[in-house]
Amino acid sequence: MQGSPGHDNGVEARTEILARSNTPHGEIALRRRGDVIELIVNGVFAMDSTQVTSEVDLADAAGERPGVVVVGGLGLGYTAARLLANGARFMHVVELARPLIDWAVAGVTEQLQLVAHDPRVRLHHADIAEWLPRREESFDAILLDVDNGPGFLIHDHNARVYAADWLASAVDRLAPGGVLVIWCESPSPDLALALAALGEVTERVVTVEREGRIFDYALYLLRRDDTS
Ligand SMILES: C[S@@+](CC[C@H](N)C(=O)[O-])C[C@H]1O[C@@H](n2cnc3c(N)ncnc32)[C@H](O)[C@@H]1O
Repeated sequence: MQGSPGHDNGVEARTEILARSNTPHGEIALRRRGDVIELIVNGVFAMDSTQVTSEVDLADAAGERPGVVVVGGLGLGYTAARLLANGARFMHVVELARPLIDWAVAGVTEQLQLVAHDPRVRLHHADIAEWLPRREESFDAILLDVDNGPGFLIHDHNARVYAADWLASAVDRLAPGGVLVIWCESPSPDLALALAALGEVTERVVTVEREGRIFDYALYLLRRDDTS
């Protein structure tokens, strides 16, 4: 989630609703403003396509030749598309909003269509908090970008994916040497602490400029021991 809606060079472009739907988890919508695509989640601005460095960095954190990857949160598909471009072997994309999956399959945006129709991608309509602990196999990378981070939630129920017990169950699903990477809209000492109890954590701050404002997004990476 990125924090503020975009405008075109200071001139507000006309907003076109590409698709919108009410879900049990609130309104979801895709909008176009000039060349920019915006995603609305639970009725609030979640992200747009103007500045996606941190979404791409999240994908790159899975390594140069990603194996089998779980992506929590389809969004506009930037993380997933980058993983495909990086040569990911297979990807489970878990998305809470059913309409977003349908729009991806229908090709409402080019990027979502690319992700939805790649044979290496399986789209799951599910809450990652419930989907991941139910899996029996292990994954080379688990990448989470479902909310802003523990301190500033769009969906209150997402608090559980930042909680110590859920994080431990996610690490259990990693193959030896695998990585869990979590996107946050700002550095979160609480999350860093919870992850540090499970292994060695790296914090990477990704500073981006959007509409003349500076944002310090953060990625938290935990690598499972090679030998465990
Ligand atoms: C900010 S977007 C992800 C952006 C994505 N990284 C990209 O590159 O476009 C967050 C997505 O997570 C989804 N989401 C929110 N809570 C979720 C949950 N508990 N499980 C799965 N998906 C969730 C939202 O519907 C939204 O599509």
